[in-house]
Amino acid sequence: MKKILITGAAGFIGSHVLRLFVNNYANYDIVNLDKLTYAGNLENINDLKNMSNYTFVKGDICDKDLVEKLFKKHQFESVIHLAAESHVDRSISNPMEFINTNIIGTVVLLNAAKALWNNNYAGKLFYHISTDEVYGSLGEEGLFTETTSYDPKSPYSAAKASSDHLVRAYHNTYKMPIKISNCSNNYGGNQFPEKLIPLAINNIKNNKKIPIYGKGENIRDWLYVKDHAKAIDVIFHKGNIGETYNIGGKNEWTNIDLIKKLCEIMDTKLKRPLKTSEKLITFVKDRAGHDLRYAIDSSKIEKELNWFPTVTFEEGLEKTVDWYLENTDWLENVISGEYQEYYQKNYEI
Ligand code: NAD
Ligand code: TYD
Repeated sequence: MKKILITGAAGFIGSHVLRLFVNNYANYDIVNLDKLTYAGNLENINDLKNMSNYTFVKGDICDKDLVEKLFKKHQFESVIHLAAESHVDRSISNPMEFINTNIIGTVVLLNAAKALWNNNYAGKLFYHISTDEVYGSLGEEGLFTETTSYDPKSPYSAAKASSDHLVRAYHNTYKMPIKISNCSNNYGGNQFPEKLIPLAINNIKNNKKIPIYGKGENIRDWLYVKDHAKAIDVIFHKGNIGETYNIGGKNEWTNIDLIKKLCEIMDTKLKRPLKTSEKLITFVKDRAGHDLRYAIDSSKIEKELNWFPTVTFEEGLEKTVDWYLENTDWLENVISGEYQEYYQKNYEI
């Protein structure tokens, strides 16, 4: 049995990664360590709870004693590290949570792995999941490659950049076997409805205004979450030690065009006359320091590991809308009192 720790697997991307690993690798013994913050939800992985190759542990990656005990008890050979505070707007209002989890938490995990592995690195791996936001913001031209200089602009991306640097430093200094991947914006089922796509779906469904920051001209490169999970699987198994892989959808959209497309799909699904939902679009105060454009050059993972996105945006958006319309209980449950308070504070509409 290969013993793997996956952190943050009750969250959006982690839940899809966990499902893929638990279902495909019966011979892996997988522990999911998750604090269950507002973004972590055991309902995301309810289907996996009785699988014999999977154990859930509720806990904080910053809790050194707990993390050390877990490494000793389970003798992990690999770590796939996804746990993080992940929402840029929250990082603007409360950076400290991001410093704690994204930076300190990562170092706690690195130290526990280093202590357990004790320079015996054969068959070991620390795989760190990161974001394209560490590269900063692009102008109208160009793409982020694996060698683009880091230039993070938000407390979220600065904290993720720090964690990437620390993971590389452990490789360089202690020879720890590491891999890092930096992915573009994900979308799909199970994403907390503070992020653009699920927030818009929820608001359209409830006939509420769709808040678009600034003029809606910012560009993101969207990837269906299950394609990201497949990329993580490929990198985990076939990627080279010490390497970084960029993962993207070759799928750039301005926020306004994306939301118009989403409105069109929602009108059809909700059997509303076309252009009904578009009327909900409302331009609001821009995000502070809002990055203009992210776009990934994913030729390295394509050429070296033969990974390609498989889900078109049209298909993925439709699947995503269907997921949110079918999982109304999930949506109601996650829209807690805390979320309502956050929503009121973040949006003056
Ligand atoms: P998410 O916010 O949906 O989930 C984060 C998970 O981590 C939650 O289950 C939460 O409970 C858990 N967590 C938070 N703090 C913790 C702590 N201190 N200890 C233990 N668990 C903790 O995030 P996501 O969108 O699934 O992102 C997962 C990872 O992928 C993050 O590292 C993020 O930076 C990265 N990433 C996200 C995107 C994206 O578009 N969402 C794109 C590229 C990379
Ligand atoms: P988001 O989903 O928060 O991801 P990120 O900031 O990590 O890229 O936002 C995606 C884009 O949508 C980003 O340009 C900010 C914008 N946005 C809005 O216009 N309105 C919103 O209510 C939100 C949450 C985001």
